[in-house]
Amino acid sequence: MANRPIRAAVLILAAGSSRRFGADKQFARISGREVISLTVENFLKTREIKKVIIAFSASNISKGKRLFSGRGIDAVQGGDTRMQSLRKAFSALDAETDVICVHDGARPFASAPLISELIKTAWTKKAAVPVVPLKDTVKKVRNGLALATIDRKSHFAVQTPQCYRADIFKKMISSKRAERDLTDDSQLLEESGIRPAAVPGDYSNFKITTPEDMALAEALYEKKFKKNFKKNRKKS
Ligand code: CTP
Ligand code: MG
Repeated sequence: MANRPIRAAVLILAAGSSRRFGADKQFARISGREVISLTVENFLKTREIKKVIIAFSASNISKGKRLFSGRGIDAVQGGDTRMQSLRKAFSALDAETDVICVHDGARPFASAPLISELIKTAWTKKAAVPVVPLKDTVKKVRNGLALATIDRKSHFAVQTPQCYRADIFKKMISSKRAERDLTDDSQLLEESGIRPAAVPGDYSNFKITTPEDMALAEALYEKKFKKNFKKNRKKS
């Protein structure tokens, strides 16, 4: 392994149809800032990230290109499924990179230290995913009946960014299994026998999925903004 700083790229998937949200969530505003802008900003703050590729839907691609041209950011048109969008974003990656991260455009609160930690772990352990303990008890339900309770202690919720050593990612994405529609790409690795390292994630790094997530996003953003403001005032 090279004894130099790790170079990483991120593929940000923002080409979905926001059906559960009910309106275009990538450009919804949190305290006046677009969700996708906040998402991208966290990666631009991460030292290892040298390249950002964002997949937008057909209706957002021109807007996306206008908003993010230059600064090592490319916007491409995604596909009908998350995996198709992932493949299209990957095919636009031409830079040499050690680690490839895959992130949901709808997760605006992945912190730079968490991203960095995942990149470093992926570099040494092949792949790394952020996980958080489940807060609710999970039941298996069929036909309106609760059939079984899943052991909460041994199950975790998985977030993004999910990071891979570039050679591992390339193998994974070109496999026949990658043609299915999956909500989680690291599932492909587990199926091929590679176990991604599970790194402690962050409850704040949630995905904006339904409209009520926006109230939490606003509150979190305001809190973070005020904290940074106080910190900067102390410095000056
Ligand atoms: N995504 C994508 N291309 C798709 C489907 C999803 O790039 N064809 C992206 C979404 O834009 C989102 C991320 O994958 O940032 C996670 O998906 P999800 O939260 O399910 O978003 P949507 O698919 O847009 O929402 P929904 O399932 O409610 O329609
Ligand atoms: Mg979806």
